[in-house]
Amino acid sequence: MPATVILGAQWGDEGKGKITDLFSESADLVVRYQGGNNAGHTIVVEGERYALSLIPSGVLYPSVTPVIGNGCVVDPKVLLDEMDALAARGIDPGRVRVSANAHLIMPYHRKLDAVMERYLGGQRIGTTKRGIGPAYMDKFSRFGIRVQDLFDPKIFRQKLEVALREKNQILTRVYNQLPLDLDEIADEYLGYAPRILPHVTDTSLLVWEALRDGETVLFEGAQGTLLDVDHGTYPFVTSSNPTAGGACTGVGIGPGALDRIIGVAKAYISRVGTGPFPTELHDEIGEKMVQIGGEFGTVTGRRRRCGWLDAVALRYAVRVNGLTELALTKLDVLSHFETLKIAVAYDSLGERHTEFPRQQRVLYNCVPVYEELDGWVADITGVRRYEDLPAAARRYVERVEELAGVPVTTVSVGPGRDATLFRS
Ligand code: IMP
Repeated sequence: MPATVILGAQWGDEGKGKITDLFSESADLVVRYQGGNNAGHTIVVEGERYALSLIPSGVLYPSVTPVIGNGCVVDPKVLLDEMDALAARGIDPGRVRVSANAHLIMPYHRKLDAVMERYLGGQRIGTTKRGIGPAYMDKFSRFGIRVQDLFDPKIFRQKLEVALREKNQILTRVYNQLPLDLDEIADEYLGYAPRILPHVTDTSLLVWEALRDGETVLFEGAQGTLLDVDHGTYPFVTSSNPTAGGACTGVGIGPGALDRIIGVAKAYISRVGTGPFPTELHDEIGEKMVQIGGEFGTVTGRRRRCGWLDAVALRYAVRVNGLTELALTKLDVLSHFETLKIAVAYDSLGERHTEFPRQQRVLYNCVPVYEELDGWVADITGVRRYEDLPAAARRYVERVEELAGVPVTTVSVGPGRDATLFRS
């Protein structure tokens, strides 16, 4: 698996952290290519729970170089806090590499994220309020301040001055907030610089050299396909490209370099924040999924909305990412249901849709067309070979791959590393 992308095939929270962690064991580099500390990876190693939001989960392996690519947005305080937390648990964060071209999340981004959401009221996106959207806004309006700017105090202050002039106008005049102080921000951020400098490098070159030398590189997507700013359920999306193409732009490698693209999908589906969700369950089945699946956000603690697996959306994820395979997680959560459903089409505005609708109006009116499958109602958390799963569980997995059109090569039946079934 020289260059493998692992990404979310749904709305995030598919259990990518665990799958990435499993593949990291044989990786040399684990690279994040988009997003920031809006992501939440929970990994359970020998009963210990690690929650990371910015640093790639590969950091848990001493042989892995964890890389934060140029497509990411970096909150320097979060980066340092995560490194300190890892060090406190005996994990050396010294190998973490950060792109000089990644953009910084600034205090005004966090503040704007919060006030913009408040301003949107009923139309709010339900962001993580970590400043992600406003940081990407500045990147694309070419107002952004990058990691490399931290190491030139004069340039940093100049850029901050320009940015603050505009941000303070917006904060005070549009949102009725107090202005932010240039010296305070400059002192705080330039104070982080000496600790961050040793980690900063040309990560595109680093990854390219690794691939050239035959090393194994894992690209770790955050969020998920349906949260992609271009291919997701816009505007209820994040501000970056979690889809596979994002791995190229967010790191600086060519598309031909990617060998394997693994989509991680939960055996059911969940979403945090607002936005359309055709298979959402508002009944006791949905509530049972939340409780049994522990569906509360790693980053914000928010309750996730849950529903049956959506094969229309899954096929869409296969297409827009060019998925070569799927990893199906949390199959054990479905052990508690006698009958299972999978959406195979949508009915909307008098038409049947078998492809994911491009129009928001159609998506909002979707009524899923379900196929029913028998449940297995047995504890599968101790199963360690795919063949040992109950027949109904195997049937479910095999139906998912039939509907998706790509093989399910990995099945997860519990949070631990060992609770994973590999299929050739
Ligand atoms: P933002 O990324 O904080 O701007 O939030 C935009 C949308 O993406 C909101 O609906 C968030 O709930 C969602 N989102 C962001 N990060 C994650 C994640 O890691 N998992 C699931 N949803 C996320």
